[in-house]
Amino acid sequence: MLKQAPSWKSSDMNRGHSVGIAWVGLAAVFFCSQAFGQKPEFDFFPDFRNVFTVKVRTQNPSITNDGILEEYASSLKSEGVTETEIARRIALIRTQRRELESDYWNRFYGNSGSNFNRAPNAFLTEMISGRTPGTALDYAMGEGRNSIYLSQQGWKVFGFDPAGAAVAMAQKRAKELGLTLTTEAVWDSEYEFGKERFDLILFSWAMPFIPIQRIVDALKPGGMIVMEVAADYVGRNEMLKMFDALKIIRYEIVQAKADFYERQQVDVLRMVATKP
Ligand SMILES: C[S@@+](CC[C@H](N)C(=O)[O-])C[C@H]1O[C@@H](n2cnc3c(N)ncnc32)[C@H](O)[C@@H]1O
Repeated sequence: MLKQAPSWKSSDMNRGHSVGIAWVGLAAVFFCSQAFGQKPEFDFFPDFRNVFTVKVRTQNPSITNDGILEEYASSLKSEGVTETEIARRIALIRTQRRELESDYWNRFYGNSGSNFNRAPNAFLTEMISGRTPGTALDYAMGEGRNSIYLSQQGWKVFGFDPAGAAVAMAQKRAKELGLTLTTEAVWDSEYEFGKERFDLILFSWAMPFIPIQRIVDALKPGGMIVMEVAADYVGRNEMLKMFDALKIIRYEIVQAKADFYERQQVDVLRMVATKP
């Protein structure tokens, strides 16, 4: 999985397998792109990512990345966008996908109009209820709603996300609340997971894009994975296969309101797995 140069089959760019199309419900979360003082030269990207790509993939689910770019270029041309600007955008999408993605997420979290859930993930709260707090890793932590919650429950919390402004928001809130989070603004491929460090690794509306062994190694024996994500995004059985080295304690796909995005009804995948 993942690692090297961003491919952008899916919107999060670096996944190595072919399930899903986006961080679920993307069409619903297009928003004003000026928030959080991000790079103006990237202003076109949220629309490309959440509107254009979703539209063409819906029309043609097997379209390739190159196919999408071809359609994008011809669509821009028909709108009267200059050849220079079209070439600039295409080159950015091809060569700076990571920068575009982290900028995208920074805008998303920093925009007061973004309708995402700022309360902790309900499945997480249920799964840790009654457990002795230990050390937790919040994988792709976003603006830290779950990190903050875990810390408030007495967990020692580590987290990472490439959206640096979002991680900074988490740290700011933690400080205001007198909590300590150990965070890094990095991609999962860059994070030092270490060995047998975590009692809990949380995937809240996120999935791994790295060789799974790194995550298994990072769990302590008896440690637990808690995952909630859109089933259509990760594939209905992909997570079972991916976490095969662990003991699956709970696995379900249920129709429910998305916990992160605009609370639309989706097929929500929930999984708990422990390390023997
Ligand atoms: C849908 S949000 C969920 C955020 C958070 N887990 C929550 O539940 O509030 C997905 C997050 O994954 C992050 N992300 C995307 N690809 C990633 C990767 N390869 N490594 C780490 N984080 C990633 C994005 O920056 C974004 O903040």
